Amino acid sequence: MTDKMTEDDLTAVVVQRLEATPDARLREVTQAFVRHLHAFAKEVRLTDEEWFTGITFLTATGAMCDQTRQEFILLSDTLGFSSLIDLINHSDVEALATEPTILGPFYVPDSPERAFGDSMVEYDDGGEPAIFTGIVTDTEGHPLAGVLLDVWQNAATGFYAVQQPGVQPATNLRGRYRTDAAGRYEIRTVRPVPYPIPADGPVGQLLRDTGRHEWRAAHIHVKASKDGYEPVTSHVFDRESRYLDSDTVFGVKDSLIEDFVAGPDGVLVCEHPIMLASAAVELAGAHD
Ligand code: BEZ
Ligand code: FE
Repeated sequence: MTDKMTEDDLTAVVVQRLEATPDARLREVTQAFVRHLHAFAKEVRLTDEEWFTGITFLTATGAMCDQTRQEFILLSDTLGFSSLIDLINHSDVEALATEPTILGPFYVPDSPERAFGDSMVEYDDGGEPAIFTGIVTDTEGHPLAGVLLDVWQNAATGFYAVQQPGVQPATNLRGRYRTDAAGRYEIRTVRPVPYPIPADGPVGQLLRDTGRHEWRAAHIHVKASKDGYEPVTSHVFDRESRYLDSDTVFGVKDSLIEDFVAGPDGVLVCEHPIMLASAAVELAGAHD
């Protein structure tokens, strides 16, 4: 009598079949993916019905995607996977540079260039006036002039301009600023507010089914870049915001939480230092 195939035999056969993949990286990724996918099903003893539920969920997730809605990215965000990829690729825990966080779906390139101290508020919906300011330095504390800060945030209603065409001007609450000769930046804005990520699709249903909520803690997004330095995509969180401990996309990092405190004229000020690491230099012959 011949031996019956075991679960582990099957995994090994599939991994072996992929051994012929000509591209070494594709081979590595697909073999590891198969190993982990099989291990997951074996660990939870996945039933036929559960597998079909998973297929139905993924089908609905794909059907929800169009030019303006990317439900797979929301799935990645809410499973902490986007933040994991960010940590793997853009974070060196030993380094002093500002910690990165996810880009999110509401970034719009080519925001208007605005001068030091200018407001990015183009539409008044009752937001609390605030000044977002600070210094950008290298990791040794030297001020960096001419750093490009691409900034965007939501309005007091919770919506980004891109979510409300015809209500907010398209460039409301976003802008590109530069640090001055002393490395400082200053942006007039409004205090950001917590907001729910789009939750009317399968990802929102999964959040509810797992006893979670769809809220993000209040934040301002900032992408900082300058030639010769590693660019960083990050956030600044309001220390008084709800959801700092349960941000639905796992974006909060302690070093990115700041106070909004009333200045002499009563306007709130949020002071946030940003540090950029020098770009990794590829030395000729470094691999020899
Ligand atoms: C955001 O911060 O804009 C965002 C990030 C992930 C999902 C939805 C929104
Ligand atoms: Fe956001």
